[in-house]
Amino acid sequence: MYSKRITYFAMTQKDIPWEQLLDETRIILQDAADREEAMQHICALLHREVPHYDWVGFYMVDPLADKELVLGPYVGEPTEHTRIRFGEGICGQAAETRKTYIVDDVNKESNYLACSPTVQSEIVVPVLKGEELIGEIDIDSDTRGAMGHKDRELLESVARDVAELF
Ligand code: SME
Repeated sequence: MYSKRITYFAMTQKDIPWEQLLDETRIILQDAADREEAMQHICALLHREVPHYDWVGFYMVDPLADKELVLGPYVGEPTEHTRIRFGEGICGQAAETRKTYIVDDVNKESNYLACSPTVQSEIVVPVLKGEELIGEIDIDSDTRGAMGHKDRELLESVARDVAELF
């Protein structure tokens, strides 16, 4: 059976085609029928191509709720956290501060919502249209300390491009 973990050890951050991934997300954004489809395909691309991405999803600001995120398109195991209030967990903190969060070891975080017991590290990148928070990209890894500056660079670029859909 295909194992992401085995691939990860064979492939370092240097081997990941970061620029090509950004190009491919731009093609998806051009070609998708609507933004739901675009975001779903971006999740699938990132999950498939980056070995240390074990859960890839979007949380979107619910315009009908008061400071609450709602789960959007994702690829990975289903999560019980389908709604997250601003301030709660890593996603909620990123929503409140509108800043990227990289957590090397989720086990050391007190304000963290566990999606799965296998998760070790996480990155959350806000999707901003000007000053307005639209949503977030949330990625979990089963490898500790998996997220670095290349992940941040790629995902902040993807987030800027996704914001154009809104
Ligand atoms: N870990 C996140 C919750 C979302 S799940 O990982 C999918 C958090 O602490 O906000």
